[in-house]
Amino acid sequence: MAEQKVVKTFRIMRYNPDTDTQPSFKDYQLECSPMERVLTALNRIKWEQDGSVSYRRSCGHAVCGSCGMTIQGASRLACKTLVKDIDGDVIIVEPLKGFPVVKDLVVDMEHFFHKYRAIIPFFHSESPKPVKERLQSPEEQVHIDDPAKCILCGCCTSSCPSYWKNDDYLGPAALLKAWRFVADSRDESAAERLSAVNGENGLWRCHLIFNCMEACPKEIDIPAALSKLKRAVIWGGPR
Ligand code: FES
Repeated sequence: MAEQKVVKTFRIMRYNPDTDTQPSFKDYQLECSPMERVLTALNRIKWEQDGSVSYRRSCGHAVCGSCGMTIQGASRLACKTLVKDIDGDVIIVEPLKGFPVVKDLVVDMEHFFHKYRAIIPFFHSESPKPVKERLQSPEEQVHIDDPAKCILCGCCTSSCPSYWKNDDYLGPAALLKAWRFVADSRDESAAERLSAVNGENGLWRCHLIFNCMEACPKEIDIPAALSKLKRAVIWGGPR
């Protein structure tokens, strides 16, 4: 049976800092399949209707984290959101909330990555290098399985009211990455990381609102990870 097509209006926020004083919405009509991804629809709008529409994308498979944007009011990956997932005939597409807009749906991620770098987001050990690799038992590895799935799309941070109020707050993405390494049995920089997240704009600004968990395209239990990070700060290390 032939697939039923639907006509949707994509209401896209447009902003060109060279010519516009403020953002405004522009509508694009598109006949699409309910199973079509919003990213595919954006590609077709760009390639078939208006080449000036700007957004980021790369892998198209929820791996690179490039296509985070606000779709129908929620932070999502455009490549993981299907047309049928959005109720109504109008699909509203905006840039990630709380991030400075560079153009249309493209946001400036520098402030986001500045905070990411502040939590020392890499493995560190002073112990002598093993002959082959640093081993970890399955019981130890289970602690980092979930946080290691993060693709740094920014959806969690852009959905966090604490971040909207204060963009100096480290935010859930950076804090989650801090926990990913604090919880890693092979890493030896937990003390530095716990100190980095314990400042005025650190993890105590997380009030467990849970927006981050709803927004995460990898379904990471970010509130649970941040709660463990808080306990690690209090105890002086993971337990
Ligand atoms: Fe890579 Fe969407 S394009 S995550």
